[in-house]
Amino acid sequence: MSVLEARGVTAGYGSSAIVWDIFLQAKVGQVVAVVGPNGAGKSTFLKSLFGLLPLTLGKVFLDEEEITHLEPYERARVGLAYVPQVSNVYSTMSIVENLEIGALGVRTLKKNEIKRRVSEVLEIFPDLAIMPTKRGGDLSGGQRNMLGMARAMMGNPKALLLDEPTAGLSPRYVDVVWQQVGRIAGMGTTVVVVEQNVERAIANAEWVYVLVAGKNRHHGPAELVAALDLGQIFLGAMSSVE
Ligand SMILES: Nc1ncnc2c1ncn2[C@@H]1O[C@H](COP(=O)(O)OP(=O)(O)OP(=O)(O)O)[C@@H](O)[C@H]1O
Ligand SMILES: [Mg+2]
Repeated sequence: MSVLEARGVTAGYGSSAIVWDIFLQAKVGQVVAVVGPNGAGKSTFLKSLFGLLPLTLGKVFLDEEEITHLEPYERARVGLAYVPQVSNVYSTMSIVENLEIGALGVRTLKKNEIKRRVSEVLEIFPDLAIMPTKRGGDLSGGQRNMLGMARAMMGNPKALLLDEPTAGLSPRYVDVVWQQVGRIAGMGTTVVVVEQNVERAIANAEWVYVLVAGKNRHHGPAELVAALDLGQIFLGAMSSVE
């Protein structure tokens, strides 16, 4: 049974489609990566899964329920979370306050329940737990990304969409982020992650989708995708666009 499923998703900006007929399936607790060259439409696809862009064709399902016509905030309430590439954390608020705000968007938790959930989420993110009162604006880029992920976890989502959570981070922090992704999945949240670094995606995801020029080019278990000549596939697509 898939937790998140896209069937024939076609979406874009205004009247021009950027992604066509995209298929994706992610099962419970799986880490699924979406890779592809710059401009392939990865972010566009992720936004369309969260309802930030209307679909011109296709459907999206969460836990087998169709969510295609739900607004983003409604998708959040039924258990879908999205962290954009540049996480917007509130710079004047502390880590804990940022997490508390994260709870508001997803469900109506009582004050003591929010406090409990903040503690649970901080247990998943030890790097944040050691400085709960630090202001969002004083965090490093990596810590900020982490806070974006942590905030998205406040609603204990069924599926989490991450757009390049490791972009621009030092190698050590890239490892930390992937560890967290594995941890989140281990707790039962399905993670769909867009990743620039194909080797990293293959090393950390169970299943990999390759998007080129707005279309699914390949997908399969990470070890099989690893055997493909992805460099050639990426380049081939570029020359076919010319
Ligand atoms: N807001 C927008 N309005 C119009 N076109 C856009 C918008 N955002 C992206 N595009 C176009 O959509 C195409 C795909 O962009 P998208 O950001 O989805 O690619 P990507 O695979 O995420 O690339 P990257 O790896 O660089 O993040 C690009 O040609 C881009 O110019
Ligand atoms: Mg992108």
